[in-house]
Amino acid sequence: MSWTRVASAAEVGEDKAVRVEVGGTPICLARSNGRLYAVADTCTHADVSLSEGEVDDGTVECWLHGSCFDLATGAPTGLPATVPVATYPTKTEGENVYVSLGDRGEDAQGALAEE
Ligand code: FES
Repeated sequence: MSWTRVASAAEVGEDKAVRVEVGGTPICLARSNGRLYAVADTCTHADVSLSEGEVDDGTVECWLHGSCFDLATGAPTGLPATVPVATYPTKTEGENVYVSLGDRGEDAQGALAEE
């Protein structure tokens, strides 16, 4: 599994989210209940950035229509979104936060290459 440094830990405050990119994939990096999470930054209902939404109690709320997504599982917890967002592993070493796209990232890059 390859890891990419995406931010310093201080850049992601409690109940905050920032948009980062790994290999061109936009990711919503969020902290809630003291934990860091990484999910796909694009809402599955429409093409808007989840990192611009509110983070609260392990969820991020899409600012456009209000669907919340569980940051641990990616599952929507309310309509209108019905499709989960991808989730990615994170790790922190010292002040550095890393995200891995794992197999899904490699699949996504392969799919893009075939278009
Ligand atoms: S665009 Fe996110 S819920 Fe509609």
